[in-house]
Amino acid sequence: LTQLWRVDADPANAQNGEQYAEAAQLLQGGGTVAFPTETVYGLGADACNTTAVERIFAAKGRPSDNPLIVHIADMKQLDDLILPTGQLARMLMNRFWPGPLTIVLPVKPGAVSPKVTAGLDTVAVRMPAHPVARQLIAASGRPIAAPSANRSGRPSPTTAAHVIDDLDGRIDAVLDGGTAGVGLESTVIELVDEETVRILRPGGVTAEQLLQLAAKVEYDSSSAPDASGHNDGGGAAEPGLEAPRSPGMKYTHYAPRGDMQLVQGEAAEVAACIQSAARQARSRGERTGVLVFAEHAALYGEEEHVIVLGRLSALDEAAQGLYAALRAFDDRQVQRIWAETCPEAGIGHALMNRLSKAAGHRITRV
Ligand code: TXA
Ligand code: MG
Repeated sequence: LTQLWRVDADPANAQNGEQYAEAAQLLQGGGTVAFPTETVYGLGADACNTTAVERIFAAKGRPSDNPLIVHIADMKQLDDLILPTGQLARMLMNRFWPGPLTIVLPVKPGAVSPKVTAGLDTVAVRMPAHPVARQLIAASGRPIAAPSANRSGRPSPTTAAHVIDDLDGRIDAVLDGGTAGVGLESTVIELVDEETVRILRPGGVTAEQLLQLAAKVEYDSSSAPDASGHNDGGGAAEPGLEAPRSPGMKYTHYAPRGDMQLVQGEAAEVAACIQSAARQARSRGERTGVLVFAEHAALYGEEEHVIVLGRLSALDEAAQGLYAALRAFDDRQVQRIWAETCPEAGIGHALMNRLSKAAGHRITRV
């Protein structure tokens, strides 16, 4: 049975002391606890306990070659996890932690279960900013391995209800601290040298922000919106495909159950293209949906299942709502989904990355 505890996101609220203590005990005893972070909900377990970490993989149905991010509450925990690092890593941590930045660093041998790193000699570390996450990790006194708290291949959860939908009965507890903040997962980076940051997965911390500290920021090819995808959510890499630096990037994540595609171009032409395709699909008896930006919603007055993602002029709000929108199409059993695209500046880069993955990298340009 999965326990659900509602907690106040304000850590000063002493009423929640008991829930944190119980949740921390579950983690210390090798259990699994889902909790909110400022990106999405995570499914946590003690990163040093192999049995506990295996429970994460089992609950999610996650392929075991996809390593997990280790979450820490303070810098003392970091020193036990990684080998000494250079100046750039320290500067990035000082600037962006706590926050939505995950840094891949050389792991101290034996510091975490080999299941966490999937046998790599690096570990991905992040210090989340969400008060509930911080309080839980601190109370447990352990480094906490935590992937997003969804079934593998499903959109990441941004509410406790999403976690329950996917994992009820498969995990020990959920701390419900309200809706997660950014709505997209953290930016995952590795350091190429003392000047260069490589983005393995775009996210809440943008390339523009990283460029304030690094002389050079590059994108790993697997994080590009039209990077070739792979559609089984869990099998081996496509033959001939170069192994991505971030193992998770080779899987088509974030997918709704319906068949989704992106249409890019001038708004009126995009709308005309989508409406004609949707009409044809409906004539075949399919249930259709569109995912559009507020500025263009009026163009889709005749469509069924129109979900407005937010404003193009406020892409951070659109990012917050993306995964809930993809899940809403599932709830309505929509079979064919068409989505607009957005410019790839700032958080728009991460948003396009996730939209593109959800669409299995199918983009029509009109
Ligand atoms: O915002 C987030 O990052 C959320 C919250 C819960 O913190 N977590 C999350 O975890 O998105 P997950 O497991 O869904 O994604 C982790 C990503 C995967 O793409 C994985 O391949 C990559 O990080 N990763 C983990 N360890 C790595 C390593 N040692 N080297 C390269 N990539 C790594
Ligand atoms: Mg995930």
